[in-house]
Amino acid sequence: MSLHLLHQFPRLELLGAPTPLEHLPRLSDYLGRDIFIKRDDFTPVAMGGNKLRKLEFLAADALREGADVLLTAGAIQSNHVRQTAAVAARLGLKCVALLENPIGTHAENYLSNGNRLLLDLMDAEVIMVDALHNPAEQLADEATRLEAQGFRPYIVPVGGSNALGALGYVECAQEIAHQSEGVVDFAAVVVASGSAGTHAGLAVGLEHLLPETELVGVTVSRQVEAQLPLVDRLRQSLAEKLEVQAKAPITLWDDYFAPRYGEPNDEGMAAVKLLAQLEGILLDPVYTGKAMAGLLDGISQNRFRREGPLLFIHTGGAPALFAYHPSV
Ligand SMILES: Cc1ncc(COP(=O)(O)O)c(C=O)c1O
Repeated sequence: MSLHLLHQFPRLELLGAPTPLEHLPRLSDYLGRDIFIKRDDFTPVAMGGNKLRKLEFLAADALREGADVLLTAGAIQSNHVRQTAAVAARLGLKCVALLENPIGTHAENYLSNGNRLLLDLMDAEVIMVDALHNPAEQLADEATRLEAQGFRPYIVPVGGSNALGALGYVECAQEIAHQSEGVVDFAAVVVASGSAGTHAGLAVGLEHLLPETELVGVTVSRQVEAQLPLVDRLRQSLAEKLEVQAKAPITLWDDYFAPRYGEPNDEGMAAVKLLAQLEGILLDPVYTGKAMAGLLDGISQNRFRREGPLLFIHTGGAPALFAYHPSV
């Protein structure tokens, strides 16, 4: 069984080259265990992040449909919306974004700095909504409104997480397999699990390419009971697209996102500081800080299935550091 169908899906070359996979010597010394990092915070559009891999496929689909607008949705500080706006700018398309304030904060930096500032720079049209209670329906309604004005909108789902977008993380799994071959045998890969496309794509790719490596999704917005079906459904539709099987157990740790999505916690912020101080690497308060807190606690609680080196997927998000300062 192979993943050869991956290359049959139309795709824009936005990434250009594999992202670096690096050893973290000072963090490894500090923890007494080898830690590596996949630098998807380094993707080359508008301060980087995991969404560019998904947008390679989604934006290709938008162009194929003759779209002139990328329409999406997310939090005011969404990294996904920022990267969608950047890709739209790069392709000469309009970007329209439905934004919500998921933590109900009035903090000035949250409302106007960080990712939100960048949306204005890239000339995205922002429509504030009270809540994204049913994003698929809200996006469809907005698409109808844009069509009535003569536009041809393409809906990029929240987080870019449908089967097409998740193909980007099958590609990332292939990079990891190539970059580690003959160099390092990862006991586990740790990734933030939110709208789940990143997790589902890695799950399909790693099950085929590195079946002995455990994949741990650290949830950032939901408890396991809600997140598991989300990851599994996406993984199944992705597996169908690629005509492969996906049946490895899905591992989710949901102990690290409290109090809720978008609200920092002490463990996550301690992880942000640790990586900044030991490695000069910038994590973020909403996703990667919490995922790294999971990795650190997983080591101290012996939660990983086997001994050996760990790989952390840095999915980006550092622009939000400025939005969450001094606090939300
Ligand atoms: C920095 C960062 N990390 C992780 C994620 C989670 O990825 P996914 O939504 O594919 O689960 C996101 C999604 O917005 C993100 O912005």
